[in-house]
Formats: sequence, C-alpha cells, structure tokens
Amino acid sequence: MTIKPLIILPDPVLRQSSKPVERVDAPLRKLADDMLATMYDAPGIGLAAIQVGEPVRMLVIDLAKEDEAPAPHVFINPEILESADARSVYEEGCLSIPDYYAEVERPAGVRVKYLDRDGKEQEIMADGLMATCLQHEIDHLNGVLFIDHISKLKRDIVMRKFKKLAKDKPASRMVG
Ligand code: NI
Repeated sequence: MTIKPLIILPDPVLRQSSKPVERVDAPLRKLADDMLATMYDAPGIGLAAIQVGEPVRMLVIDLAKEDEAPAPHVFINPEILESADARSVYEEGCLSIPDYYAEVERPAGVRVKYLDRDGKEQEIMADGLMATCLQHEIDHLNGVLFIDHISKLKRDIVMRKFKKLAKDKPASRMVG
C-alpha cells in the first residue's frame, strides 16, 4: 500500500467533478487500498479519490476509534437515494483543508446505494457520524467542500489563509 500526497486547498483539482467508475478491477482496488493507507496515515476518517488526485467516484471511510479494530469501508459510485428531514450538526474537518474545523448542518440520515470493493451493489441506511461523513465525501466527488456549507464570510477567511499558505510554499504541491 502506498501513502499518496494529498491535494490541498486552494488546488483547483478539488473543484473537479469525478467520473463514475466503469469497472471494479485490481487497479481500482489498489487505489482503494492506497487511499485507506493515506487516510490512516493522516489520520482521518474519510477520503475521496479526488483528494489524492484521482477523479473517480470512489471514497473510503473508517469510523473505528483508536482502540478499536479497523473497520474500512469502500464506496464506489455512491448515490444518495433519500435524505432525512431531520438535521444534525457536526464539527467537520477535511484532510484537504488541514487544521480548520467548522460546524456544518446536514440531513441527519441518508440512504445510499453503492458498489463495494467486489463490485457488488449495496445499500446503506446511515445516521450519526456515518451519515455526515458519507455526505461530506460524496460532496467531494461533485467538487464541493465542507466550507461551501458555512457562511461566505468564514469561507472567504479560510480561502485567503490557504491561498497565502500556497503562495508562501509554491513547491509544496505534488501530484500522486
Ligand atoms: Ni474532506
């Protein structure tokens, strides 16, 4: 498994819309494994392929706590079929927006269909942190970031900060 460099804000790659996966094959499973390794290394609880520069509709999630056994999930071509009317608020962060956290309100539950790493169709009824995490990662596949869900004022401040950081360190971007 390879730890890949993460794409960091304000890299425009993060705004790309990812393409559906056409075939669940060995190279795709290798990418899933690399994404999990990258996520565990960060560490984070979710990662979309576009965050390592691969514009394909795949994401990985592991919500296991530090003292629990790993529980990796791979979601390929995930699609939200239904969202709950009830809302919940979580403090979110993103591996592509390091060291920034903000409260985001989203539907408290979602029903999502997807392909697993064997290419089998699956459906999940998610609530709690899994619901939030799935929505955050599916947003990535559409070029949407969690800072798009906060106020424009707050977003402008974050964007300014990260643009400045990128300018101060122009050689920091690597493509995996
Ligand atoms: Ni993210």
